[in-house]
Amino acid sequence: MAATGKGSTGRGSPKLHPLIRAAGKKGQFPEWAVLGKARRAHAARVAALMGEWAAALGLEKLDRIRWKAAGLLHDALKDARPAALQPLVSDEGTWPDPVVHGPACAARLRAEGVTDEALLRAIAHHTTGHPDLDRMGEALYLADYLEPGRRSQAKWRATLRRGMPGDHDEALVDVAAAKISSLLKRRLPIPEMTVQFWAEIQRRL
Ligand SMILES: [Fe+2]
Ligand SMILES: [Fe+2]
Repeated sequence: MAATGKGSTGRGSPKLHPLIRAAGKKGQFPEWAVLGKARRAHAARVAALMGEWAAALGLEKLDRIRWKAAGLLHDALKDARPAALQPLVSDEGTWPDPVVHGPACAARLRAEGVTDEALLRAIAHHTTGHPDLDRMGEALYLADYLEPGRRSQAKWRATLRRGMPGDHDEALVDVAAAKISSLLKRRLPIPEMTVQFWAEIQRRL
């Protein structure tokens, strides 16, 4: 299992960035967020799941706020035009348009002074997965896919949700397999970091 991310708020500082505190404690989006009403509701449901799981894991208050903030903020730029987001990540390799909102949001948060690398990585890779995600990052990958507002395969998703956070690794295998299968069925490329993420998950089986 990956590290829990305990105390990893930016190496050494117990203080939370005001944007992270506002998101995780008050459910507030940054003023630069570009997302419609339905997407805000999705983000709020993901944040609620993240908060639930963090509490069930017995994480300290600071980490519970971080987990909720990651949930609320992960899609903060989802409704922006990809062409407007690509310049934000032009130094970080190639990001296909459907996934660029994650790294773009992380880049925007970094520009605002957020230094919590585990949280930035979680947001950047919430769609693709990444072998270096910590427990929070993997939980975000799961919460985004398992939140109760998603209608397709609702029973299957509910079953996986009920097993969380205890059956984290099992859920990760099932969700990653479903997401990768969906790419394959549509004959879409599998991002390299997703292939590496799958290999990391396989090591735990
Ligand atoms: Fe997303
Ligand atoms: Fe999402």
